[in-house]
Amino acid sequence: MNNNLLTTIIIFGASGDLTQRKLIPSLFHLFRKRRTPSQFQIIGFGGTEFSDDGFRAHLLEGMKKFASFEFTLEEWNTFAPSLCYVTGNYTELEDFKKLSAQLAKFENHENANRLYYMALPPKLFPVIIDNLSATEQLEENGAWRRVVLEKPFGTSFDTAATLNKQVHKALNENQIYRIDHYLGKETVQNILFTRFANTIYEPIWNRNYIDHVQITVAEKVGLEHRAGFYDGVGVLRDMFQNHLLQLLTLVAMEPPASFNASHLRNEKVKVLSAIKPMSPEQVLVNTVRAQYKGYRQEKDVGAESTTATYAALRLFINNWRWKGVPFYLRSGKNLAEKQSQIIIQFKEPPLAMFPMQTMKPNMLVLYLQPDEGVHLRFEAKAPDKVNETRSVDMEFHYDAAFGKTAIPEAYERLLLDALQGDASLFTRADEVETAWSIIDPILQTWETYQTPPLAGYKTGSWGPAEAIELLARDGRRWLDEATD
Ligand code: BG6
Repeated sequence: MNNNLLTTIIIFGASGDLTQRKLIPSLFHLFRKRRTPSQFQIIGFGGTEFSDDGFRAHLLEGMKKFASFEFTLEEWNTFAPSLCYVTGNYTELEDFKKLSAQLAKFENHENANRLYYMALPPKLFPVIIDNLSATEQLEENGAWRRVVLEKPFGTSFDTAATLNKQVHKALNENQIYRIDHYLGKETVQNILFTRFANTIYEPIWNRNYIDHVQITVAEKVGLEHRAGFYDGVGVLRDMFQNHLLQLLTLVAMEPPASFNASHLRNEKVKVLSAIKPMSPEQVLVNTVRAQYKGYRQEKDVGAESTTATYAALRLFINNWRWKGVPFYLRSGKNLAEKQSQIIIQFKEPPLAMFPMQTMKPNMLVLYLQPDEGVHLRFEAKAPDKVNETRSVDMEFHYDAAFGKTAIPEAYERLLLDALQGDASLFTRADEVETAWSIIDPILQTWETYQTPPLAGYKTGSWGPAEAIELLARDGRRWLDEATD
């Protein structure tokens, strides 16, 4: 494929929130860093009527509100001419014929690479792909055609498998880029760098040295006007099937033969396949589901809704490296703080040699957001005390090491990779389906038998007492480096 050709980025759902908040700020930032293709243009497609100028003004308004970097109007004015808009209906073949004709015009009837970005609910993916296919817009004749699909990818194993079949009718797997924006986060990519660019961790990264792993993705925000989407979906589909399981694969996978997309994704699928789907009895003892108090009174939420806004899971990976090591995962909305972190808790020293030793195990904390960094907690002799130890930290902070603005928006990296044809940070068809095969039995037990009972928690708390109990039964507790 020829990367020197003009590249056209077509965004479906161009008048929506994601385009204004994330996609355009990321593309503009890439443009400022001279990372966009040498010749490119961005065509928005959507139901809302916009002139090209109206579209540009709408995006500039978004830039002022949402961009995480400073820019001048002059810089924007060098970028804005590459933005155009086509009004159309996703289900109307005629509108796709119109789009095809307009693209040919924009591309001067010459061969051009095309990235189609679906910034829309997944129920629209099949019809859009059918319409693109029927108007021969997906054929690769010396130029590439790629399609980026936003999450959520299905709502269950069956719906995800059906969606995969539908998109595979018109596209090869290597043309499909399924987004999980957590994989675009620098700190998430750094999990593999911590493990495989250093020699000190990997020899102890296993059941012989690690007691358990805790993965927390706590959100302070609540529904943020998304009740229409969220109610009925809940935290397991919204956060666990994708983000939390992806984090788990990165912590648990074997070193891939190389850092390429297929090697990396093969290893991730192996981890997911080693987690046995739970029986209803196992769901009862290994999961906690909860709803924050006041959820049912939120606008657009059903008065009897049993949607879980918080969940905690205890999972086991049945392979040589991890057999018997619990992975505790938790996530929820309206919690005390926004905090995403992974804690690797090592085993206790086998012998308390020092009389006043408090036997605190070592702990490696990967801070994903905010206060991005990596901390290693270990014991040191407390000065001027006889044989007393104290926990101390070795700390790496991104802002101190790389500067305050060093971390780009996750979408920047993902858009750049899709433009460059690198699918390493996107989820493959089998990966998505295997993740669903872990989540499905939990959801089915929750929804069919209503067990375990739906717990409640206060807004601003760290979740329900049942989540504390989940670990207490194993003689453990949720760890927090600040207080432990
Ligand atoms: C999205 C979920 O995928 O991730 C949202 O749909 C959630 O409900 C968001 O708030 C969290 O992302 P981040 O990057 O803010 O941690």
